[in-house]
Amino acid sequence: MANTSQISTDFFEGMEVVVKREEMLARYTSLRIGGPAEVLALPLTVEGLRLLLARARREGVPVFLLGQGSNVLAPDEGVRGIVVSLRRGFEQIELLPAGRIGGWRLRAGAGVKLQKLVRFSAERGIEGLEFADGIPGSVGGAVAMNAGTGHGEMAEVVEAVRILEREGEIRLLERKEIPFSYRSSRLPAGSVVLEAVFGLQSGEPAQIRRRLQEYQEYRRRTQPLASLNAGSIFKNPTGASAGALIDRAGLKGRRRGGAQVSERHANFIVNRGGATASDVLGLMAEIVDGVRVHAGVDLEAEIRLLADQRVL
Ligand code: EPU
Repeated sequence: MANTSQISTDFFEGMEVVVKREEMLARYTSLRIGGPAEVLALPLTVEGLRLLLARARREGVPVFLLGQGSNVLAPDEGVRGIVVSLRRGFEQIELLPAGRIGGWRLRAGAGVKLQKLVRFSAERGIEGLEFADGIPGSVGGAVAMNAGTGHGEMAEVVEAVRILEREGEIRLLERKEIPFSYRSSRLPAGSVVLEAVFGLQSGEPAQIRRRLQEYQEYRRRTQPLASLNAGSIFKNPTGASAGALIDRAGLKGRRRGGAQVSERHANFIVNRGGATASDVLGLMAEIVDGVRVHAGVDLEAEIRLLADQRVL
């Protein structure tokens, strides 16, 4: 990797941004895969993020959004440019009564981990987010890709999303302005989710707890939670299950380098140690081929390549 940097030492001057140069992305992804980011930037405020984007736009520096790195494959050779992750500074949670009886409005910053939000509302006897139990990642990524499970998806509970647009404008989008579909939100190109507002309601605490326990128990039984993974690798095709299709094609346990199709759930790839992005991509290609031959179905990736997460 060339050491020359297009990002000058004073690029971040005066910006509320934590800057790490040549930081291994593997430290920031749930699969523990990924080479060095020329700069890994952790903005601490919206203004820090806005200034960073404005300067990057002016100077033609590429910017990629990593989020929590739980649904992202980062390349082995690393990334030239700036990789942004919204964490500290984007973790505020605010609960307000909504207009209707028993209704609540929960505002959460893009960096809030979804699991924290699920617990936060369950502990207060507020229901609506239970479906998200077990989904890794944070509010920003989950909203941007309309994350979900068989029990629901973000689109069902989102009331509004505050975004920072490519041109630097901050805008609040109402639910009806966002064309959500299966694992997609089609937010304006190049925009970054700053926070989301969820519409929830009071529920029966014991029932909420029971529901969460049931979901957790099911996941523990059916998913390789103890291994490094990135959640579901492929989207479920309409009316079918990617896991079942991969399983029936006889691909469970298939291995490429350090990457393996989980024995427990065929729509998970686990890092058995030393897996590379090219191991994972190779395995994904084998899976797509295998399922096409066996079932005549074309699987579509659910995990995102960091290269496709470019905002500038
Ligand atoms: N199945 C198999 N073999 C396997 C795996 C699954 O035959 O190796 C069968 C199961 O028996 C079941 C069906 O496939 O009949 C569906 O499997 P499962 O219930 O595990 O659900 P899934 O569609 O694979 C979804 C979400 C998960 C979420 C679970 C549980 C998607 C793409 N995935 O999995 O979300 O945890 O439901 O609610 O919708 C994620 O998005 O990253 C994720 C982990």
